Amino acid sequence: MIAALPDIELPHGDSPELVLVQATPAERIESIKLNSTEWKGPLDLDSYIAREETLLQQRLTKNRLSCWVLVDRREPEDRRTILSSCETYKKAAMVARGGKLENALAHGVGSVYCRPEFRGKGYAKRMLQELSKKIDAWHTEGDRGERPLFSVLFSDIGKRFYAQFGWKPHPSSHFELPSIPKEEYSSAAIATTLPEIRTLRPEDVQRCMCNTDVIQKEREVLRKASLHSSGPKVAITPDFDHFSWHWAREEFYSQKIHPGREIPTTKGAGDDDAKVYCAWNRNFGSTPEENTLYILRWVYNEPSSPEETEKTVNAMAAILRRAQLEAYDWNMANVTFWNPTPLLEIAVALLDPTAEIVHREKSSIAALRWSGNPEEQVDWFCNEKYAWC
Ligand SMILES: CC(C)(COP(=O)(O)OP(=O)(O)OC[C@H]1O[C@@H](n2cnc3c(N)ncnc32)[C@H](O)[C@@H]1OP(=O)(O)O)[C@@H](O)C(=O)NCCC(=O)NCCS
Repeated sequence: MIAALPDIELPHGDSPELVLVQATPAERIESIKLNSTEWKGPLDLDSYIAREETLLQQRLTKNRLSCWVLVDRREPEDRRTILSSCETYKKAAMVARGGKLENALAHGVGSVYCRPEFRGKGYAKRMLQELSKKIDAWHTEGDRGERPLFSVLFSDIGKRFYAQFGWKPHPSSHFELPSIPKEEYSSAAIATTLPEIRTLRPEDVQRCMCNTDVIQKEREVLRKASLHSSGPKVAITPDFDHFSWHWAREEFYSQKIHPGREIPTTKGAGDDDAKVYCAWNRNFGSTPEENTLYILRWVYNEPSSPEETEKTVNAMAAILRRAQLEAYDWNMANVTFWNPTPLLEIAVALLDPTAEIVHREKSSIAALRWSGNPEEQVDWFCNEKYAWC
C-alpha cells in the first residue's frame, strides 16, 4: 500500500520537485484502486481491477497503454505518493493536409484523476502541463513513426479545463432514443414501411465496416476535404481493434451482471442492399437509467439521387429501431449515437419527429490537441463513439 503524505507535507502544484513518470506495475494498480470510487460503477473493486487487466490485454491497448503518475521526486520509487494520475494510449490515425494523406500516430488520454482529499491543489493541472510537454517532445524528438501528430480526450468536466492545455473542444452532440419492447414495435405503423435488416456478429462488422475499401473511402474523404480548406483533417482510424476493445468491455460487464446469460453476440445491424451498417456496444452503468446501447460507428455511402437518399434513410431508421429492441432486451434505457449526420437526423425524425439533438456541454466532450502549430484549425472526421477510451 502506498501511504499518502499527511496534508501538511503535500507539495504545491507548481513545486519544481513534482515530476510526471510512468507508473510502476504496483503504482498502476494503486491508481486503479484510487480511481475506482469514481469509475467502478456496478463492479466491486476486484472486478474493476480485473476489468482493467482484461482491457489491457486487448489488441487496441496491449503494449500501447501507459499509466502516468504525478509524484514528488524526493520520495523513493516504492513508496511515493500518487498525487494525480492518467493514462495515454497510442492510436493509429490518419491525417490529410494539402491533398496528401498520411498514416499517423495519435494519443488518447484518459482516466485523468486526483483523489478527493488532494483536489483543488493544482495537481491535475500540473500533470496535464507535464503531459503536454511530453507529447510535444515525442512529436519533435521521437523516432519517425512514433511521433504523435495529435491527441484526443473525452472530457467529463466541461470544455474549459482541458482547453487551457491545448485540448480544444470539438463537436459533441448526440441523439438519445428510448429502448422499446418488441410488442410496441410490431404494433407501430412504421414497422411495415421499413426494410428488413440483419444483425451483425463481430466477423460481420469486420467484413462490412472495417474492410480496406471502407477505410480507403474514409482516407479519400479526408484527402479531398484537405484540398478545399486549409488546416489538417484528421481521424482516429476506425479499425476493428477499436470495436473489439468496446466489446471486451461489454462482455466483461455482462458476465458479471448477467452471469446466467450468454455474452451478447449481436454487435450491430445492417442493410446489405442499401449498404448501411452500424456497430454498437452495451454500456452497463450503476443504475438501469445509465445503461446505454451506444452506436459506435455508422458506415454508409453518400447517396447520389433522391431514390438512394430515401433507401439510405429508411435503412438507417430500420437499424435504429433494431438497436432500440436490442437495448430493451439488455435492460438498457436508451440508444445513443454521437455527432449525427444530416441523413441520420432525417432517419431519427422518421422514427420520432419530436426527438431533439443534444449538444453536450459537460460530459464526453470530444477534445483534440494538435501537436503542430496551435493556430491551425483542425477538422476531426469520424468523430464517433468508437474512438472513446
Ligand atoms: C477533475 C480532477 C482530475 C481535477 O483534479 P484537481 O487536482 O483537483 O485539479 P486542479 O487542482 O489541478 O485544478 C482544479 C481545476 O479543475 C476544475 N474542475 C475540477 N473538477 C471539475 C468538474 N467536475 N467540472 C469542471 N471543472 C472541474 C476546477 O474548476 C479547477 O479549475 P480552475 O483552476 O480553473 O478553477 C479531479 O477533480 C477528479 O479526479 N475528479 C474525478 C474524476 C474526473 O472527473 N476526472 C476527469 C475526467 S475527464
